[in-house]
Amino acid sequence: MVSSGPPESPHVPSVNYHVWQACNMRCRFCFATFQGVRKNVLPAGHLDRPDAMRIVRALARAGFTKINFAGGEPFLCPWLVDLVVYAKKLGMVTSVVTNGSYFDRSVASDLLKHLDWLVLSVDSLHPATAIRIGRVKAHKPISKRQYLAICERVHAAGVNLKINTVVTSANYGEDFRDFIIRARPRRWKIMQMLPLQGPDSRCAEDLIVDRDGFNHFVAKNRRVRKNGIVVVPETSSDMVGSYAMIDPAGRFYDNVSGQYKYSQPILDVGVRAAFSEVDVSAARFLARDGLYDFWGGWKWRRVGSWAQLRGYLRNRWRPSAVSSATPLTTAATAEPVWLQARISRRTDVLESGQATAVISST
Ligand SMILES: C[S@@+](CC[C@H](N)C(=O)[O-])C[C@H]1O[C@@H](n2cnc3c(N)ncnc32)[C@H](O)[C@@H]1O
Ligand code: SF4
Repeated sequence: MVSSGPPESPHVPSVNYHVWQACNMRCRFCFATFQGVRKNVLPAGHLDRPDAMRIVRALARAGFTKINFAGGEPFLCPWLVDLVVYAKKLGMVTSVVTNGSYFDRSVASDLLKHLDWLVLSVDSLHPATAIRIGRVKAHKPISKRQYLAICERVHAAGVNLKINTVVTSANYGEDFRDFIIRARPRRWKIMQMLPLQGPDSRCAEDLIVDRDGFNHFVAKNRRVRKNGIVVVPETSSDMVGSYAMIDPAGRFYDNVSGQYKYSQPILDVGVRAAFSEVDVSAARFLARDGLYDFWGGWKWRRVGSWAQLRGYLRNRWRPSAVSSATPLTTAATAEPVWLQARISRRTDVLESGQATAVISST
């Protein structure tokens, strides 16, 4: 079993809120259909606007600092922009992951005015493969030209772009390099398809790809790193127990057993009690590179003093001292593990030529 952190701390800084169950696509590998949730728990497929706002507020108050809105297709949620604006107002870094098929709607322009990260899912640039996967809108795949046009709009709006690609048996031989270099994402996450069992699964067993197939895709495409693009390969086992996730009914869930286990609703029991009911490991979150510079700060700013260093920290974590260098550790301390890691990463930067400073907690 994957161990969870103490219930008094969320222990991971970012959370995926699957705000909307419905989707216009039918990707056959999809692990976020929530069809069982809709059938058995939430016939509407979503909370109403005030309750969704309450969830966002509760997450911010509990210490989550980044929120990624997902679905289903989040662009279908009429109050998506309101949720993003509210999360930003509460100090969170905001992100939306989308299949890109509603970029012609006004919601896209509205969102891009407020968002920190736009994550675009692209699984194939070949129409026949996209059709086989089910990543199609009204039977039509999105073309490479259309994807590139979306990426340009995201760049023009000054929003960070990330691309997600799920590797399956259908696309593991595909060459994405030209597309990725032209799309210029800051991050490209390459995920091995994670199979799911149970009522929320679509069970596309023919799309499962083994580790060799996944590694083949990564080896073929990772050279885009030379163009300054951060490539983040994630195996299906990396994805297990390493994400804080909330379903459309406002419950945390985990995927540790191969099918979803849900907490009680956050609005009934609060974030911490609900989070303590699922298995999410901070160490696994760090191991899959969940902690990156989503604040947009540390890569570009020189951090030379404790005062400056402290300026990057949210007040609520109150680290107590600066000491000499210590290695990245996941040992239990009074501080959340992710905070140590964040600082340790900064230390890596500092040690590589500027200074040495590490936060230690008491
Ligand atoms: C569930 S989708 C929701 C947002 C939106 N509908 C989209 O496709 O981008 C969020 C991300 O999960 C990925 N995903 C879905 N099923 C997956 C699976 N079985 N294994 C790995 N990633 C998956 C999608 O490709 C997408 O990048
Ligand atoms: S577009 Fe996203 S939510 Fe919809 S089926 Fe595909 S992966 Fe699932």
